[in-house]
Amino acid sequence: MRHLMSPMDFSVEELDKLFDLANDIEKNPQKYAKKCEGKKLATLFYEPSTRTRLSFESAMLNLGGNVIGFADGSNSSAAKGESVSDTIRVISCFADIAAMRHPKEGAPMVAASVSNIPVINAGDGGHQHPTQTLTDLLTIRSLKGRLGNFTIGLCGDLKFGRTVHSLIHALTRYENVHFVFISPEELRVPDYITEMLQEKGIAYEEVIKLEDSIAKLDLLYMTRVQKERFFNEEDYVRLKDFYILNAEKLSHAKEDMLVLHPLPRVNEIAVEVDKDPRAAYFKQVQYGVYVRMALILTLLDLA
Ligand code: NCD
Repeated sequence: MRHLMSPMDFSVEELDKLFDLANDIEKNPQKYAKKCEGKKLATLFYEPSTRTRLSFESAMLNLGGNVIGFADGSNSSAAKGESVSDTIRVISCFADIAAMRHPKEGAPMVAASVSNIPVINAGDGGHQHPTQTLTDLLTIRSLKGRLGNFTIGLCGDLKFGRTVHSLIHALTRYENVHFVFISPEELRVPDYITEMLQEKGIAYEEVIKLEDSIAKLDLLYMTRVQKERFFNEEDYVRLKDFYILNAEKLSHAKEDMLVLHPLPRVNEIAVEVDKDPRAAYFKQVQYGVYVRMALILTLLDLA
């Protein structure tokens, strides 16, 4: 039995197979409409989410399966003091596969270590968000036609943004990826990530101004300042509008640069950018459903 804790749990070849499956689902949804009949997905969300939870639920429903779960830990037995390990043992009796989001780094891993059903990490604190990374990779592969041979700018909260941490790890396995980290000093990418890049001999730059590097990017991955992980409101207020991508800034970018964002967006992308053909963040949401369908089928051995 397999779990998904990090995008690195799948080899590059396995990821290619997963993305081929996701693209086939996109083209032939009917072929997959009953694949999970009689199966149940449990969504165990101890932290707020709209897209990730509903994307999982929609993926399972598209496969003909059913969904149970909770969207708020305070409504579950966690509020009575139940451990994540006990919860997953109990859920294993009800469901065939589970997706868990938790504010504590490593909680889904603890659950996976005692679970009888596949567990998917749907985001653990500021650590990892592997299914967002699968979504990002599928979007890039589908819209750019390749994974590798590009310069990607990651912009915003690189310190607390778990989607950024997962994506950087995943992209280190592809050829000729050049990273440009664009953040205020206080929200720089953590040292453990830059050290990992140095060890692997992967080139990266760190800059503060988006304007300085936008022209050379093939992909721009914008992120929200992660309010809930700040220790004080003052710092958040000072940093929250540090970057606002607008039409003027975008006019300096390549014609075929893609703008990605895991969403939710707050202020960091002006609404006027939505109509630019380079804006890919809503398409990204759609790819998220296809890739989660492919993932559920793969982990349930139904692919
Ligand atoms: C991200 C998350 O939860 O980390 N959202 C998502 O799952 N699409 C990004 C964010 O909340 O900023």
